[in-house]
Amino acid sequence: MKLCMIGTGYVGLVSGVCFAELGNEVICVDKDQNKINNLKKSIIPIYEPGLNELVKKNSKAGRLKFSTNIDESVQKSNIIFICVGTPTKKNKYEADLSQVYDVAKKISKNIKSFKIIINKSTVPVMTGDKVEKILSKKVKKKLFSVVSNPEFLREGEAIRDFIYPDRIVIGTSNKKSNKILKNLYSPLISKGAKYINTSRRAAELIKYASNAFLATKITFINELANFCEKLDINVEDVSIGMGTDKRIGGRFLRAGPAYGGSCFPKDTRALIDTANKSLTSLSVIKSVINSNNKRSDLLLYRIRKILKNRIKNKKITFLGVTFKANTDDMRESSSLKMIPYLSKKGAKVRYYDPTGKKQEFDRLKNVQFKNNIKEACISSDLIIIHTEWNEFKLIDLKRIVSKKNFIVYDLRNIYSPEKMKKQKIKYFGIGR
Ligand code: UGA
Repeated sequence: MKLCMIGTGYVGLVSGVCFAELGNEVICVDKDQNKINNLKKSIIPIYEPGLNELVKKNSKAGRLKFSTNIDESVQKSNIIFICVGTPTKKNKYEADLSQVYDVAKKISKNIKSFKIIINKSTVPVMTGDKVEKILSKKVKKKLFSVVSNPEFLREGEAIRDFIYPDRIVIGTSNKKSNKILKNLYSPLISKGAKYINTSRRAAELIKYASNAFLATKITFINELANFCEKLDINVEDVSIGMGTDKRIGGRFLRAGPAYGGSCFPKDTRALIDTANKSLTSLSVIKSVINSNNKRSDLLLYRIRKILKNRIKNKKITFLGVTFKANTDDMRESSSLKMIPYLSKKGAKVRYYDPTGKKQEFDRLKNVQFKNNIKEACISSDLIIIHTEWNEFKLIDLKRIVSKKNFIVYDLRNIYSPEKMKKQKIKYFGIGR
């Protein structure tokens, strides 16, 4: 099939590359000329394990092309995916849909034969209705169908998530589109993915509801972790004990810092905004957002306690600063609140991240990027394990830290408290 992905951000690029890998002809379009020039040379703009190889392979096979020409790319394709960003509007909860609507207008000028227009961007309920309205102004109704097909990829696991999804959600009441899309996804369905055909509005809500529910699960266990710390209970025992109940499930029950990334924070806010507009109160999700917003302050309070309120001139190391492992993404990472606070309080902060130096910390006083774990930790008073990269899991801290009485604060619970005790390292984890 001939596909066109508009927007080569996370969703558009990964989906486009994976669709090409399944044998389709794919054009990935972006208005950013520099990005497209780089992609033509197989230089990819994001950090995603395995993506580079797939871009090279499928470009070489002639199935994957990159372009800035939206008109020509739409004309050449049967299925057009809208994959542009839907960020939160400044100082609001509302999603900014201007890019989605701009693209819809451009598509509407280029439809001469039947095309399926798919919203893959995460959008509020009824965005599909508005896109359909925009298209109807220029195109006869029988020449197009607007479908919602939300994406459930995780950064860092995106290729695996695309090829082995739990489910494929297709929101349309158009039988022809449903048949074509079931066929497009048949290689994944045959590997076990559930194919779910719903109304377009339901598909849009499924995406928001899924992200909001996962954010709720994390926040729930984070709050329980606070409680466990007071009662000397290991929150991991609680996660396992709860999670083995199949109705609950053990995934996304890992306590840690505030959840971050480009999706959970943005989508929970947008869901609240959409519900407010329909005069519905989603009070559970509101509390989740509030609790998560306060989490970094709570962890900073613990750091103050751990250091007995003496932060000035203390050497504090952050291992990992991105919002989670296997990504270079800093969006809404809890380190963005924690590091500036500690710098302001006079700490000497060093950080190491496998994805390199971050410009977000460039202008902060006494904050330095170090090229490797050893340099970052060597004379540290407090080592904060912020992100759960594999390379942090077996560090021989006793060997690399020159100080005797250094402290470890493990925000991801990747070390065993017993082993730390045996090594006589002062150790704090989350909820244990
Ligand atoms: C999330 C969803 O998991 C994807 O299904 C969805 O497609 C994507 O958003 C999106 O809407 O595009 P992602 O933002 O890549 O994916 O990251 P997650 O792996 O979900 O992690 C989000 C945050 O939750 C991170 O800060 C992570 O550290 C935290 N988390 C996750 C926990 O604190 N505990 C857990 O048990 C799991």
